[in-house]
Amino acid sequence: MAFYRLEKILNLYDGYRRVFRIGERSLLLIQERDRRYLVLNRCPHKDFPLHTGTMVGSRLRCAYHAMEFDLANQGKCVQHPLQPGAQLFTLVYDGVDVGVELPD
Ligand code: FES
Repeated sequence: MAFYRLEKILNLYDGYRRVFRIGERSLLLIQERDRRYLVLNRCPHKDFPLHTGTMVGSRLRCAYHAMEFDLANQGKCVQHPLQPGAQLFTLVYDGVDVGVELPD
């Protein structure tokens, strides 16, 4: 596993969103209502990017077909529970930075 620094903690605020590219992955870092989420920037429905979506509480609504993924509930799809959910990653805090650990 390797640690990838994403952002300084002091730069995070409610409404924060930023896309990070790590290798083949595009990851979306979000802070909303004092909670932080790191999600694969790819909708599990049709693979469109999620960073153009909107946050409604803890739910990320995809801009393409309006499916909502509850990031506070393992990324589950709200409208279609059997639909694969958004893929979440665990944030890792290291001093003043927040990042993620991914396989080498
Ligand atoms: S591509 Fe996201 S809801 Fe269809």
